Amino acid sequence: MLANKRILLIVAGGIAAYKTPDLVRRLRERGATVRCILTSSGAQFVSPLTLGAISEDRVYDNLLSLTDEYEMGHINLSRQADALLVAPATANLLAKMAQGLADDLATTVLLATDKPVLAAPAMNVQMWNHPATQVNLNTLASRGVKLIGPNEGDMACGEYGMGRMSEPLEITTTLEDFFAANKRLAGRRALVTSGPTYEPIDPIRYIANRSSGKQGHAIARALSNLGTKTTLVTGPTQQPDPPGVQVVHVESARQMLAACEAALPADIAVCAAAVADWRIDTEANQKLKKEAGSHPSPLVMVENPDILQTLSNTKTTRPGLVIGFAAETQNVIVNAKSKLAQKGCDWIIANNVSSEIGTFAGEANTVHLVTSEGVEDWPRLSKVEVGRRLADRIADTFETSHG
Ligand code: CTP
Repeated sequence: MLANKRILLIVAGGIAAYKTPDLVRRLRERGATVRCILTSSGAQFVSPLTLGAISEDRVYDNLLSLTDEYEMGHINLSRQADALLVAPATANLLAKMAQGLADDLATTVLLATDKPVLAAPAMNVQMWNHPATQVNLNTLASRGVKLIGPNEGDMACGEYGMGRMSEPLEITTTLEDFFAANKRLAGRRALVTSGPTYEPIDPIRYIANRSSGKQGHAIARALSNLGTKTTLVTGPTQQPDPPGVQVVHVESARQMLAACEAALPADIAVCAAAVADWRIDTEANQKLKKEAGSHPSPLVMVENPDILQTLSNTKTTRPGLVIGFAAETQNVIVNAKSKLAQKGCDWIIANNVSSEIGTFAGEANTVHLVTSEGVEDWPRLSKVEVGRRLADRIADTFETSHG
């Protein structure tokens, strides 16, 4: 049930840390790979050697290790995980998470992550009942941290009550349920376009645009995380291929259209690519030379196929839900509404791509969801979060109207 899932396990300083080698073993038995971060107080209860041997990986413990930062980096530790699991989650670590502190590797990774976080609290019953802890737990739950346990029982301190860490098997089962419940779009097929297109002038030169592919790739990944079989057709970008997604690399708009048509049928199509509207009429076979004293000949352009419009108007294989983007620098909503009608798609995600807002190269996006029912303004979010929200909205729609 946890096949191919990558768990980043954060072990904090509580007596329950002695159970974590068993937890690592249970997770790995189910197919997960486990990488451990051990806090300095966690290392008082379980040794890095034990966790390293059981996880068959090195154990990370020091934020300021130049070697670690060079080889892996704290951001990559989170990037290379599907979920973060904090076990045991001590009262102290939970308080730091609630406050957004980042004073060691564990807390820094927890603050820098965009992955789901699950936490298995473990502490003395008085600490558990303390209003400060309860407020922190509510704060974390409201931010989406999933709490596992704790259980009631005898404690190492001799008291009895709430605060015992859930058993490794319970934690493992919760993780299995967590990943299974997230597959709201299992059985659906999705097609996503991303990145710019390159329109060739001659074998050396091309016309392109500034799209980074970050938004399209994040959408493909989010849909895949909800269980869709996803094909991502992308122009040239610096983005890594999202794991579990079938990626088709193309350059020109015409190649992108051909790859999209080959990927049909699909239930969902999201056109996030910044497709060039025009291409050079006749691409030169040889490099265009600069003739001394002459002016360059004007480039003759012809219109490219519109991929979004083509998919929206495909007869038998039209995806059930076709979503386009509207990249605008002015009159964002008005232009997006007319694009919705003109292209024949079901939803438009409108965004302002004026250079002063920095949407194209940046990590964040402020978008508006335009449908026949109206306009929804989303707050400024990371592109990853826009991808997640969109995937959730798509899942809501399929659950209510597509059956
Ligand atoms: N699109 C497409 N194929 C094209 C042009 C655009 O699939 N040849 C898609 C984009 O992926 C996006 C939507 O159409 O989902 C709108 O793209 P945008 O660049 O905002 O608009 P254009 O259609 O190019 O219109 P304009 O340049 O006039 O704003």
